[in-house]
Amino acid sequence: MRVFLLWFCGALCASSSSLGFYARCPSGCQCFPPSRTVRCASRGLSAVPHAIPGYATNLFFVGNTVRKIRPESFVGLDNVTSLVLSNNGITELSSHTFSSLTMLRSLNLDGNQLVLIHPEAFWVPGSPIQDLHLSGSLYNHTSLMDLITALRWGGLGNLLHLDLSGNHILLLPPGLFSPLPNLRQLCLANNSLVAVYNSTFSGVERLELLDLTGNTFTSFSTEGLHQLERLARARLLLGRNPYLCTCGMEQFAAWVNSSRVRVGDLDGLLCASPPQMNHITVRSLTASVLGCHGNILSEVGEMGLHTSYVFLGLVCGLVGMVFLLVLYLNRKGINKYITDIREACRDILEGYQYRYEIDSDPRIRHVGTNSQQGRISKSNHQQQSPADVSTNQIPTTISL
Ligand SMILES: *[C@@H]1O[C@H](CO)[C@@H](O)[C@H](O)[C@H]1NC(C)=O
Ligand SMILES: *[C@@H]1O[C@H](CO)[C@@H](O)[C@H](O)[C@H]1NC(C)=O
Ligand SMILES: *[C@@H]1O[C@H](CO)[C@@H](O)[C@H](O)[C@H]1NC(C)=O
Ligand SMILES: *[C@@H]1O[C@H](CO)[C@@H](O)[C@H](O)[C@H]1NC(C)=O
Ligand SMILES: *[C@@H]1O[C@H](CO)[C@@H](O)[C@H](O)[C@H]1NC(C)=O
Repeated sequence: MRVFLLWFCGALCASSSSLGFYARCPSGCQCFPPSRTVRCASRGLSAVPHAIPGYATNLFFVGNTVRKIRPESFVGLDNVTSLVLSNNGITELSSHTFSSLTMLRSLNLDGNQLVLIHPEAFWVPGSPIQDLHLSGSLYNHTSLMDLITALRWGGLGNLLHLDLSGNHILLLPPGLFSPLPNLRQLCLANNSLVAVYNSTFSGVERLELLDLTGNTFTSFSTEGLHQLERLARARLLLGRNPYLCTCGMEQFAAWVNSSRVRVGDLDGLLCASPPQMNHITVRSLTASVLGCHGNILSEVGEMGLHTSYVFLGLVCGLVGMVFLLVLYLNRKGINKYITDIREACRDILEGYQYRYEIDSDPRIRHVGTNSQQGRISKSNHQQQSPADVSTNQIPTTISL
């Protein structure tokens, strides 16, 4: 009986001590010592509780309402390897926020509205972070710029996996990922990217998976394909983009078909336009399917040519009209000018004619060499033969 009581007491004591263990779990959270997990989900908490047990390796603090995460929140949690802070409406990450989490491997900040990210927000001594999730959490373009700085100053040299999906990213600045030389998986799905450039992925040549699905790529340029080629080890996901299947697509289609090993979602690459091409797979496109050397595009080209001829005609007509208008407005000046010219011409022609007559008249040939004499004689000649003059006269009926 005494033994039983002792046993009973022991059991009670054990359970009460384990109760005490549970009692140290902060309110609003659930603690699971066997799995070393603490979970504080959707309880309207406005800050990370202070009394989170030190054994925790997995800390979920999700669906609450925290605006700013402070470094003090995580003091003493040196066993945490996985921290999930998704959907908390976090707007600001201050400097060294996670620096006491020296074992941190995975950090998830999905679904927040990060307006301000301090350059050293992700800095942790020893650079332990390997996974960083920022899906749907950048507030605007300024936050992206902040993040770029933070990637550079964050000591994230050991990062293996970065998720930037669903952030409305339009443009990736060159060399953005170069501070992450060990990156293996990069997710850029569900953004608004339109192009890959020369150095978009420079510095991350060890990439094993690149996810570009659900963006707004209509094709990939030669430059973009070169860049993708340089990621020699990476499996590429390129589906759910609105590919534009016209002639410009020829090169990309051929590249896709020849890179079938590397493109992981080959059959997910579908034409979105023009309408007659809708839902055709990009890899099945050849020059003849695209009609590059056939009628469709040459017709389009001819139409363009016609349009440009019509335009040229219009411009010429306009120039002509302006010219006529100018002539009309200056008609008096032009009349005077023409009269002047006419008179000058008459003088010259008469001079020539006179000289010709002198030259042909043996009686006065000896006189014609002297110009002074010639002019005097010319006026004489004019009076003598008015009929000859009239034949050289320019008609005076020119009018404008
Ligand atoms: C971390 O876990 C170890 C045992 O795995 C434990 O000894 C240590 O006290 C824990 N750290 C804290 C801060 O509780
Ligand atoms: C982003 O949002 C912040 C805060 O509202 C604002 O100060 C900043 O100008 C915005 N940036 C852009 C590019 O709109
Ligand atoms: C992208 O969006 C689609 C549809 O909304 C969703 O099914 C998919 O999981 C998202 N992908 C990523 C990587 O966020
Ligand atoms: C791409 O960058 C290389 C140097 O890294 C340069 O030689 C090349 O001309 C660039 N190509 C384009 C299309 O800008
Ligand atoms: C795709 O490539 C294969 C060889 O790898 C070739 O036989 C086939 O004709 C190509 N298809 C298209 C549409 O280019």
